[in-house]
Amino acid sequence: MQQPSTASLIASIPKVELHLHLEGAVGHDVASKMRRRYEPDAVIEPPSAGFKDLETFLAVYDGICRYMRDAADFRDATWHALSRCAASNVRHVEMFFSPDAHKGVAYSEMLDGILDAFDAAKSEYGMSALLIPAHNRELGPEHGMAFLDKVLSDRRERVVGIGLDYAERPNPAPPFARMYERARAEGLRVTAHAGEDGPAEYVRDTVDLLGCRRIDHGYHIVDDPELVARCRDLDVLFTVCPTTTLSTTIWRDLSARDHAIRRMIDAGLRVSIATDDPGLFMTELNREYTLLAENFGLSEAKLREIALNGATHGWLSEEGKKDLLQRCAA
Ligand code: HPA
Ligand code: ZN
Repeated sequence: MQQPSTASLIASIPKVELHLHLEGAVGHDVASKMRRRYEPDAVIEPPSAGFKDLETFLAVYDGICRYMRDAADFRDATWHALSRCAASNVRHVEMFFSPDAHKGVAYSEMLDGILDAFDAAKSEYGMSALLIPAHNRELGPEHGMAFLDKVLSDRRERVVGIGLDYAERPNPAPPFARMYERARAEGLRVTAHAGEDGPAEYVRDTVDLLGCRRIDHGYHIVDDPELVARCRDLDVLFTVCPTTTLSTTIWRDLSARDHAIRRMIDAGLRVSIATDDPGLFMTELNREYTLLAENFGLSEAKLREIALNGATHGWLSEEGKKDLLQRCAA
């Protein structure tokens, strides 16, 4: 009876979700509903589970973005995403979204819709949420500065930092150093996707040149023991996403002893388990915890420790963290 008890233990643990893309959280049913609003006669393909690689996934992701066009669409999608989080006993979310994937929609309108749903999740579920606009690295560093201008032109209390995502391998970190330096100088927190399909060197540059102390994925760090030791010393947080590794990385077997997430945990790196794109990958946070618990044999103490990492190393203010820890203990 190992399985049911693992699942019910995990369901009972309060969690924090730090790596969730709004647009990738939209499930097939909600995506279809949004599309029909604009194309009533569209022939909609059934959902597929898993993707060949990161690029194949990103093409589908961009397809969803085309049907998010006004504040109501953003509110609906965000509400759906946060409700799914609540079903996994998530008490705090830090959510990415992709401002440049929605052509013709004003940045402030996207914020209005998303933050409305954040308010609703606060009152309905007692769930806190922060928002992280992510720059599409494929658009380059000059566009990155324009992206940052936009973020700085409409600052809201819950928009606390920036991210960097999309195709990693052809778009490494160094050209984004000035953009990140400016973001940090403006008081924004910074994170970036690195080491998902790019090498360990990309992770190192993200730490050293972009100044990140939080890395999304980071898996290829396992190829560089010196960097592993340094990130442990610097207390860098890695947001790791089990299911998406099976499509977007070289590690496609969670039961393999050399799976990167297993090696990161064994090496004592600080990780937070996350879903990345739960709608498109048809998963949820309880399931991601269960996959790691069962494949890696994680103890209850380790699962609780990992769940707590998200609360202590997320981007809430000290006061917000205190409140979150109380909500998790309650
Ligand atoms: N990697 C890069 N870009 C993304 C991802 C990811 O895992 N999810 C959504 N955009
Ligand atoms: Zn991601």
